[in-house]
Amino acid sequence: MHLTKEEERMLSGGEGYAVKKSMEILVALGDIYGAERLIKVGSVQVAGVSYHNLGDAGLEFLNELAKDGKVKVLTTLNPAGMDLENWRDLGISEEFAEKQNLVIDAFKKMGIVTSCTCTPYLIGNLPRYGEHVAWSESSAVTFANSVIGAKTNREGGPSALAAAFVGKTPCYGLHLDENRVPDVHVHVTAGLKKLSDWGALGYCIGKKAENKIPYITGIAEAEVDELKSFCASVVTYGAKPLFYIRDVTPGSEKHQPPKDKVTIDSKDVEEAYRNINDEAVDIDFVCIGCPHCSIKEIAEIARLLTNRKIAPNTEFWVATSRTAKQLADMRGYTAIIEKAGGKFACDTCMAVAPLKGRFKAIATTSAKGCYYSRQNKMLTKMGSLEECIAAAVSGKWS
Ligand code: F3S
Repeated sequence: MHLTKEEERMLSGGEGYAVKKSMEILVALGDIYGAERLIKVGSVQVAGVSYHNLGDAGLEFLNELAKDGKVKVLTTLNPAGMDLENWRDLGISEEFAEKQNLVIDAFKKMGIVTSCTCTPYLIGNLPRYGEHVAWSESSAVTFANSVIGAKTNREGGPSALAAAFVGKTPCYGLHLDENRVPDVHVHVTAGLKKLSDWGALGYCIGKKAENKIPYITGIAEAEVDELKSFCASVVTYGAKPLFYIRDVTPGSEKHQPPKDKVTIDSKDVEEAYRNINDEAVDIDFVCIGCPHCSIKEIAEIARLLTNRKIAPNTEFWVATSRTAKQLADMRGYTAIIEKAGGKFACDTCMAVAPLKGRFKAIATTSAKGCYYSRQNKMLTKMGSLEECIAAAVSGKWS
């Protein structure tokens, strides 16, 4: 990979330890994937924030980098392993909280906005169409590429952090237009009536498209929350963090439907529900917000919980960014949800919080949430927000 004089200087330690290490990571990646050069990025989203996943080795690595590392571009953080303020109420131990706070301190020292959300595009890290960025977190990467039309590979935590310290990333993969051409036509005949249907659709397309870029037809319109849910699912059950929906997402007008064609009908969507859902009646955990809830979703939760009570043996979480929670406070939604017995889980989520062994069965609107909850040994139920609220107030899935 060709390096400029300035980049050579960074690689040889001219800007300190963190930048040198970062350049080593970026050059190694560039060489592996055949990049010719580094390109500037407008922003970075760093995943790998939960102490649950990082452990002591990860914390040590971050502390080393934080000694002299300062990010060069707007950099935001993915969810951590706990709500940074309300962790006690969510059943997090003192020991875990102490370690998680050390992780956050290291990121703060680097100049990172400790936003702790997987929806950075909702809280101020919003790239423009065509802008190069270096994001990790698969749902956010898919949203950036497909809904915003920015350009990013699916970075890991360390490569995203390296891009933040250097302000650049190797130019390969989805940074190049020739690699952003759709190669499978997916025609959807299934009707999509509720938010979870978008998760089920993501499951179907992810499985059928595998490693191809889908060009989707048959969908006339989509709301941001629906696309957010679809992004999370399609990349969890498939592989490519990029899709086009004709006349809905940017760039679709530049392409024609590829010859290779598959159809998704209502039977496929029903089959997805059967695969995502387990046999479970008693529900002890309901979590909404994968990806993190928007203020619009929180408003809907508050409407549905008005004058109702969460069942005594069921825990109800709204996973969201602290920014969205502050808006919810202002609008009175927080008061309604908390009066019903619900809890806010800001800065964290059902996948990265240390939940293994705490709950038996979860109800959620999210297909991705079900995927990770199974890894946490929970039985899973995916349904509409109304069905999930009904499960939260009765403790049963019906
Ligand atoms: Fe976000 Fe956690 Fe889901 S990071 S996409 S809420 S698994």
